[in-house]
Amino acid sequence: MMDHLQQTGGANRRGFMRGLLALITGGLAFLGPLIGGIALLLDPLRRHQNQGGGGFVKVGALASLPNNGLPKKFDILSDKQDAWNKYPNVPVGSVYLSRDQDNKVTAFNIICPHAGCFVQMDAKKSQFNCPCHNSQFRLDGSKANPDNPSPRGMDPLEVEIRNENEIWVRYQTFKTGVADRIPTS
Ligand code: FES
Repeated sequence: MMDHLQQTGGANRRGFMRGLLALITGGLAFLGPLIGGIALLLDPLRRHQNQGGGGFVKVGALASLPNNGLPKKFDILSDKQDAWNKYPNVPVGSVYLSRDQDNKVTAFNIICPHAGCFVQMDAKKSQFNCPCHNSQFRLDGSKANPDNPSPRGMDPLEVEIRNENEIWVRYQTFKTGVADRIPTS
């Protein structure tokens, strides 16, 4: 009788241990893909922050920008990725670059600080115009007249020249409709 009870108790313990092991293994099998999925979802954010190192993106060659101080539009290309697909080198924005005779390069985001339309270059007047509500900006990005509906001048971006001929821009966007320059990316 005692032997029978001990055997039954041993079998129950073994069954319990097997069940526990199956539960842990099943849990790990479930958590693995879940953690992988979360990492994949967060990956584009991490990748975007690291793009080009320190948020800088290579925009073009210094030689492609005349040193006459006149702005020229360049697209910002970057890799985009969602949970399933990777899209290499897609336009994520645009900037105006200009170079003066001392090779100093200036960059402005093309987005109008008033309400987000794309500012255009008016070569005849040597100024920027926004077609949506007629904001006008000088070539140095400042507001060109007091009636300008934009609450601030165009948004300047940091520029670095690397390897003597590469123009790198720290691409950022800013909150529109406010006087302060508040980064949104
Ligand atoms: S969006 Fe540019 S003036 Fe309004």
